[in-house]
Formats: sequence, C-alpha cells, structure tokens
Amino acid sequence: MKKRLFEKSALSLALAAILLFTPATPVAFAAGDIAAIERVVVTFHGDAQTQRGVSWFTPEKTRADVQLMKAADYHGIFDNAVPYEGTVSYYAKNYGHRVVLDHLEPGTEYVYRVGDRELGVWSEPGTFVTDAGKDSAFSFLAITDVQAGSEENFQKASELLDKGFETVPDAQFVANMGDFINDCNNEQWDMYFRNFERHHLRATLAPVSGNHDGVPSWFRYQFPVSAAAPSLGLTGDYYSFDYGNAHFAVLNTNDMFPMTSAQVNWLRNDMRASGADWKIVMMHRSLYSAGKNYNKPDTMIMHNRLVPVMDELGIDLVLAGHDHMYFRTKQMKGDQAQETTYIQEVYNGETITFADNPQGTIYVLPNTAGTKRYPVHPETFQKILDAGEVVMQPGRPVFAGITIDGDKLIYNAYAYDIDGTKEIERIDSYAIQKTLSGEPPAPFEPDSTDYASLWRQDLNNLVTLLIRAVIDYCALIPQLIRDAIGNG
Ligand SMILES: [Fe+2]
Repeated sequence: MKKRLFEKSALSLALAAILLFTPATPVAFAAGDIAAIERVVVTFHGDAQTQRGVSWFTPEKTRADVQLMKAADYHGIFDNAVPYEGTVSYYAKNYGHRVVLDHLEPGTEYVYRVGDRELGVWSEPGTFVTDAGKDSAFSFLAITDVQAGSEENFQKASELLDKGFETVPDAQFVANMGDFINDCNNEQWDMYFRNFERHHLRATLAPVSGNHDGVPSWFRYQFPVSAAAPSLGLTGDYYSFDYGNAHFAVLNTNDMFPMTSAQVNWLRNDMRASGADWKIVMMHRSLYSAGKNYNKPDTMIMHNRLVPVMDELGIDLVLAGHDHMYFRTKQMKGDQAQETTYIQEVYNGETITFADNPQGTIYVLPNTAGTKRYPVHPETFQKILDAGEVVMQPGRPVFAGITIDGDKLIYNAYAYDIDGTKEIERIDSYAIQKTLSGEPPAPFEPDSTDYASLWRQDLNNLVTLLIRAVIDYCALIPQLIRDAIGNG
C-alpha cells in the first residue's frame, strides 16, 4: 500500500506534495501514552470475508503493529493474539501506519489493537466482523456529509451515528458518502476522528471520497482501502467489495469533469464480473438532487454521463451525498420513472411493502449527518423533480439503515431531532423483493483499460457533455423568466 501511495502523483501537484512530506520537528512520544495513537480506522480492503485494512497516526515515527484475536477467545488480554505488521509513511506532519489484516475467517467477530510492540504502546481495543458470505443477511448504516469545522458540529454528527447504532444495532459496517470534514487540514481530521473514534472502533468503515476531503491524496492517506488499479489517488479513490449477496462499487466523483473513462470502464468491468444479486453504487455527488448544487455543471454532466451506465449495469441502489437534502427517486431508468407493482409481506414482524421485481434504479441522497442543510430548490430541472418520490429538507440530520436478506432489500431513513426532542423519526421507507437468478455472471468483453487512449476519449467526452449541459440549461430559461417577471 505504501509503495502505491504516491507513485502516480501528478507533476502539477508536486509542490504541494513536497510541502506535505517535509517532516516536522519530532514530538516527544512516551511509551504507554495511548493518546498519541490517533485516527484508528478499519476499512474494507479487498475480500470482505477475509481481509481488512487498518490505519492510524502518531506524531512520531513508531512501528506499525496490530494484534488480532477472535472476539470469542478474547477475555481482556491479547496474550494469544495473531501479530500483523505493516508500513509507516509520512504525510502532512503525521506518521501514518497501515496494516492489511488477512487470512481472516468469514462471519467472525474480531478484536484488535494497534500500536508498537517494542514500545509496548497500544490503542484501545477495537472490533469488527467479517462478511459471512452470500447466504447471510446483513445490515449497514449510511450517512453523508458530516462536513463539520468545529468540535461541536463533529460531536453532533457523531451523536447521530450513536442513534444509528441504537436503531440498527446489528449494523456490520458504516458507509459514509463523503465530505468527512469541511476544510481539509489536520485540525479538522483530528476532530473528525476524535469524535468518531468510538464508531471506528466498533465497525468497519466504507469511506467515499467527497470534494471537501482534500487534494492531493488526503483520502488515500486517511483510509486504508484497496484502491482499484486505475485509481490515481490524487482526489480520492474508487474500489469495490462484495458483502453478503451484494456487490458494492465505491466511486470517486472528484475526477468527474467528466468522470474519467478509466473509472467508468472499471465500474462496468467490476459490476459485470460480480455474481452478487444486489448491485449497489456509493458515490459523493448525487445523480438526482434538488439542493444547492442542482444546476452546477459538474452535477449535470455527471448525471448525463452516469445515469445510462447505471441503467446498463442494472444497479439496484445508488447512495450519494453532497447536496445536503433528502431525495429518494422512484424506480428510474433512462430518466423515466418505471411502472412498478408492489406486494406486502411480513418481514421480522413488520408488514412491509416491497417493489416486486422492479425495473430500474433507486437513487438516494440521505440529507446530511451534519448541521449544514440546503433547502429544496423547486426551480430545478423538471426531469429531476419528476424522478423524486420523497424530496424534502427534514431540518434534522439523517442516517439510513439498509438490510439485504437474500431476495429482499429493505431501506429506512431516520431523522434525529438533535437540537430538540432527541427523538428519532423514520422519515422514509422503501423495500425491494426480486427473484434471484442464481446464475453466475454472464461472460462479457471487458471495456478498454488502455488508459492513454481513454484520456484522449475523455477530452472528446468533455466537449460533448458540455454541449449537452448547455442544452439542459436552456430548459431552465422559461422558469428564470417567470421568476424574473414574478419578482419584478
Ligand atoms: Fe460535497
């Protein structure tokens, strides 16, 4: 991982990288001082049944050691722990430690601690569970856009995730759709990790790169994911993993002007190679939203570029962020709502309405976990408004809980009245049931991985997509005129 960390850095960013790599004066590091171990996080890293990435930071260079035990064998001491060793690298006045935990057993809860075995310095113990495989149900939590800049606002967002775990106590991982911080600096990353430490020590994180998460390479440095081969790592990373009966592709929408063909082709090849029955994409910029960014060229270009790809790949659910409002679409295909039939069934004691073998994709933007919320813009594109099934600003932070159990996907969104009653309200529910194919993925001809020619293609795409965006903007002109007359 260390070897790959900066190998593809672009020349234009070299100066910034040099500044970030210049070591600071070493800070005294006392043995036994666990407070010096910061930003501990476990992420997906390849096979979710057998591998995890773990990273942490120290102000002074120390070893990268991890001790790992099955939770069933752990009774407060790490005497028979399995030792792992990783790499240490310097970035932005910190030493980052990165270890790949491998040869794990599927469906197993583990306890670990990170530190330096020679100094005898260790973190608090943390836990995570491994994926039990295709036949096992699982749940996870989704939040987005913590995007705080103060201790108080990070604390509030972390309180929201407390409520998430209270509501979905069996959540096996947390997906965060990006913008972890507002201004990308050490102070805010420290505040983020300080407030979310208890969550990171509890469950695996699936991080998504947001546009506030820093250039160059901050995301890659903070989160030990196993990046896809063509991911440059400068503006974030893209990667994928199977979990249960679902395949998750995590995109980096920061290289989105337009999204690089390298990434689009990777997504196509990655999804088509998966035998999972549920296909989920997680990304920062949302393809459907009516918040502040509704008419931004990057949002429109990405919409036009990626909606056909989601259609082609048969994606069931797209989770996104960025626009700090709540938006759930109908079943969408080709920008058209699909005729859908529904059935009712009792699941875990609750009568749930399931979309029955629906066509198309559901796009969800679960507001924000933070305090900065954008109002709904009703003057946005008609095709976006027409796609919306639930469109609102609930005025409270939101988390989503998602369960996948065989042929069922159950989605719930909850708002938390953090500044008032401290009550949780379920603000949206949606569920899908579909007949599972049970078939392995069909053979396919992989899309090009000739990156030089793909970059040339990107230039052509940019012109085409800009023209398309201008045409889209024309659709807003009548509304703008009406507004102008109305205001006059
Ligand atoms: Fe954003």
